Amino acid sequence: MTSSTTFGSKAARVRAAGEPALVVEHLTKHFGSRIALDDVCFEVEQGEVFGLLGPNGAGKTTMIRILGTLIKPTFGNATVTGISLSRETGSEIRARISIMPETPGLYLRLTVWENLECFAGLYQLSHVNERIRKALASVNLADRQNELCGSLSKGLRQRVALARSLLSDPAVLFLDEPTSGLDPVAAHEVHDLIGALREHGVTTLVTTHRLEEAERLCDRVAIVNTKLLLVGKPDTLRADLFSRKLEVRLSSRLRDPSRVFSEVLGVKHWEEPEAGSYLLDVEDPDLVAPPLIRTLVGCGADVLAVGERRHSLEDVYLQLIGDGAGERK
Ligand SMILES: Nc1ncnc2c1ncn2[C@@H]1O[C@H](COP(=O)(O)OP(=O)(O)OP(=O)(O)O)[C@@H](O)[C@H]1O
Ligand SMILES: [Mg+2]
Repeated sequence: MTSSTTFGSKAARVRAAGEPALVVEHLTKHFGSRIALDDVCFEVEQGEVFGLLGPNGAGKTTMIRILGTLIKPTFGNATVTGISLSRETGSEIRARISIMPETPGLYLRLTVWENLECFAGLYQLSHVNERIRKALASVNLADRQNELCGSLSKGLRQRVALARSLLSDPAVLFLDEPTSGLDPVAAHEVHDLIGALREHGVTTLVTTHRLEEAERLCDRVAIVNTKLLLVGKPDTLRADLFSRKLEVRLSSRLRDPSRVFSEVLGVKHWEEPEAGSYLLDVEDPDLVAPPLIRTLVGCGADVLAVGERRHSLEDVYLQLIGDGAGERK
C-alpha cells in the first residue's frame, strides 16, 4: 500500500541540518507523587525506526506526550529535530512532527474525508485535497473516504488516525501502539508504511506491546519501566544478555557426552534437556559447529540437527521486566 507515498520533504530539510532527530536528556516526569519517567536519556538518529517497549504504566505514552510538546517534563530536557523543548519552541516543533495517539480521537459523525479535512484545517495545511488523497492512499483507505468514521471498525479507525498523522508530512512521527487492534494483514500494512516512510528519511518512534513487531520493524529499541533499562539493536541486546548456545539433536543419546564435548574446542558447558538433545554454551556457534559435527560423526552419532538457539526480543524483555511487571505497577 506504500507505493504512492512521497513523504519526506520535511525530513529532508531536517536531515540537511545534521542533528539527531531526538535527544532525550535526563527526562523525568512526576504526576503528583507518582513518577512516570525517571532520568531517561537516549538519542534517535534521523531516519531511524526506534521502538519504546515496556509494560503498562511504564511511561511510554508520557514520553511521547512530552516529546510531542503536549506536556512539560518535571526535570530534564529534550531536543526534537534539533529544537530544544520549551514554551517558545512548541509550535515550531509541532510543525515538524506528528503524533498518532493510543486512541484515534476522530469525529464519529463525520466521514473519513471530512475528518481529515477538519484536521488539515486545524493544522493550517495547504494543498489539503492532495494531502488527504496521498494520506488515504498510504493506508489503503481511498475507497472508504465517504463513510462515517462511526461506522468503521476499530482497525479502520486506527488507519484513519494514521492517515491523519501523515497529513502534515512530518519529519518525526510518534506512533503510540499503531497496530493495537489491527488484524495481521492490516498490521503488516502499517509495518510496510513505516518502512516506506523510513526510506524517505522520516524518523519514527513507535510504542508497541508486540515484541516480534518491534524486532522486525525497529532499528533500535529502548526497554523502559519508568527508568530506561536498556537501549540498542535487538541483536546486540540478545548478545549482551544471553550466552550463545548451540542446539544438537541426535537420533539417540551419547554414551559419554562429557568426553565427546570436551574434545571440541569452544564448548564451555553442556546440558541434556531431553534424551538425545543437547544444549551447548559456546563462544561462537559458527566456529564451533563444524568441528562439533565432525566429532559427533567420528564417534558414530547420527546427527539430526545442529543449530544456534535464537533468543527472541521477547526473551530479552522478559529477562529485564519479568513476568507480571504490569500488575506490579
Ligand atoms: N495525566 C496523568 N495524571 C496522573 N498520572 C498519570 C497521568 N498520565 C500518566 N500517568 C501515570 O504515569 C504512569 C505512566 O503512564 P503512561 O500512560 O505513560 O504508561 P504507558 O507506558 O503508556 O502504559 P500503557 O502500555 O498502558 O499504554 C502511569 O502510572 C500512569 O497512571
Ligand atoms: Mg501508553
